[in-house]
Amino acid sequence: MTALGKIDTSVFTEYLATHEKKSLLRFLTCGSVDDGKSTLIGRLLYDTKLIFEDQLAGLEKDSKRFGTVGEEIDLALLVDGLQAEREQGITIDVAYRFFTTEKRKFIVADTPGHEQYTRNMATGASNADLAVILIDARKGILTQTRRHSFIVSLLGIKHVVLAVNKIDLMAYSQSVFERIHEDYKAFAADFGFESLQAIPLSARFGDNVLERSPSMAWYDGPTLVEHLETVEIERNLWEKPFRLPVQWVNRPDLNFRGFSGTIASGVLRPGDDIVVAASGKTSKVRSIVTYDGELPVAGADEAVTVTLEDEIDISRGDVLASPVSRPEVGDQFQASLIWMNEDELLPGRPYLLKIGARTVTATVTDIRHKTDVNSFEKLAAKTLKLNEVATVNIATQAPIAFDAYAENKATGAFILIDRISNLTLGAGLIDHSLRRASNVHWQALEVSKAARAEIKRQKPAVLWFTGLSGAGKSTIANLLEKKLLSLGYHTTLLDGDNVRHGLNKDLGFSDADRVENIRRVAEVAKLMTEAGLITLVSFISPFRAERQMARELLETGEFVEIHVATPLAIAEARDVKGLYKKARAGEIPNFTGIDSPYEAPEAPEIVVAEKGEAPEAEAERIFQWLFDNGYLPVEPNYVI
Ligand code: ADX
Repeated sequence: MTALGKIDTSVFTEYLATHEKKSLLRFLTCGSVDDGKSTLIGRLLYDTKLIFEDQLAGLEKDSKRFGTVGEEIDLALLVDGLQAEREQGITIDVAYRFFTTEKRKFIVADTPGHEQYTRNMATGASNADLAVILIDARKGILTQTRRHSFIVSLLGIKHVVLAVNKIDLMAYSQSVFERIHEDYKAFAADFGFESLQAIPLSARFGDNVLERSPSMAWYDGPTLVEHLETVEIERNLWEKPFRLPVQWVNRPDLNFRGFSGTIASGVLRPGDDIVVAASGKTSKVRSIVTYDGELPVAGADEAVTVTLEDEIDISRGDVLASPVSRPEVGDQFQASLIWMNEDELLPGRPYLLKIGARTVTATVTDIRHKTDVNSFEKLAAKTLKLNEVATVNIATQAPIAFDAYAENKATGAFILIDRISNLTLGAGLIDHSLRRASNVHWQALEVSKAARAEIKRQKPAVLWFTGLSGAGKSTIANLLEKKLLSLGYHTTLLDGDNVRHGLNKDLGFSDADRVENIRRVAEVAKLMTEAGLITLVSFISPFRAERQMARELLETGEFVEIHVATPLAIAEARDVKGLYKKARAGEIPNFTGIDSPYEAPEAPEIVVAEKGEAPEAEAERIFQWLFDNGYLPVEPNYVI
């Protein structure tokens, strides 16, 4: 699941190269600040001699200033990183560390355990083969243990170590250890872990970390390092079907055309058949090119450039695949989604979805349920907040190639990105495609929009009025429509208050409902323009993202955004419907401009009523603008 793991590979490629012959185990540690997680990682690094002398000297000094273990070296300080973090006493974000033993090399993702950092844990876990779940022997299984286990299982990690730490503080008690082990087995039974190894240990004193503990003769299992060195991990990305997401088309001159990217799974040899997943076009591999020359074979995780026998249409974002085992191609699927942003997920809002090398616009069409990560209860939800996990339906604007995450971690994971800020908002794991609409094809109609408009002798357009409640949107729209109609134009008017009595009567004024309100109205406005009408739309439509979506549904130039910019003070003073008074009195929650935001347009075609000018004059100005900009034909049907 490379989309999630933000590993800076350059840092350790050199390190890995020197230990290339050994197998690699990626694991993550889950536990809270108090469970001794940092101490355990520090102990692993210390015992495997990965600390240099100068670091050690720094550590001794720091231990005296910040440490929590008296005069001993506080190993936690080694991994807790930045000075600022140490001083706050918490760790944030994900750090990757590497160490090696005689038998294996390791990358450990260190993620903080505080509740609000589910997203960090998911990021750290995204590449891991194994999870070490830390338990404080004094406390046993806690809510957070359940949460960590749930996310570990959600991300498809099959191997778990239950590290029962601080056993020294429980007098190295066998019964304490066994009780915790039994409790854990009972609730983790449904998580589908293939291996579960419980180990009693003391990270602080090193018992059963690298060396066997002399204080626990009753324990006959492996030490933590022994287990990590020997646990069998099926790193089988090479055995999965071939997938190459094309990062770019390499065309230095007319004689060479190569497709570059990192192989997500499978192997490839010259002569192999391949298919372009979305188009179904096929060809044969001519050569596999790298900086070091041509390769006889290449496999998962290797960056290559592939040349083909035939000139077929392939562009960035396409997936080259094995023709006998193709990925799914579809525009609707069900997925698990981990929300990672402070702004909540709003179904219906357009986001960017990135999977492999492909980025498309996508919306969450339905939150089927969210899952309480502590109790595993399934709950109904209209939105998702930071760190919430849900099963959702997603629709993409164009078909994408993918596999179920359970089948192939490399091609079954995606991220959602904010279209404006470019921030990662959520991480998703695809369950399966939804084929609901598979037998519905776009019907080619013989009467076109152009023909319908032609007979009306007009150019269809959407005149989208946006602004605060009481700004005068509907009044101005109504005056403008009257004028257009009197000149023989064919129009219709969609008004917020009216549409909310019918089509949208199930919707309220939460952010999520407003997004859906506007989505539906934008679709209706599109149908109206298909009918050849000049469509006036009068909705507060407070969010930029949805107005942008409406604009994108229409053809270039068809969408005219009219900001009715009456200031809040004037709209409130008028208070035609008495709603501001009620909102101020707390009787109407989420009232736009009072306790719900209004995002003013950044580049509207027209701004009117900035100072609360009279509606008649503003309607006239809009008419003039439409005329000047070619929206109204020079010869209307009849002139009065
Ligand atoms: S929108 O935000 O979803 O675009 P819409 O234009 O459909 O809103 O509806 C706004 C109208 O609903 C307002 O003009 C007002 O009459 C009424 N209304 C009732 N409650 C609210 C509220 N909480 N916020 C804004 N308008 C409200």
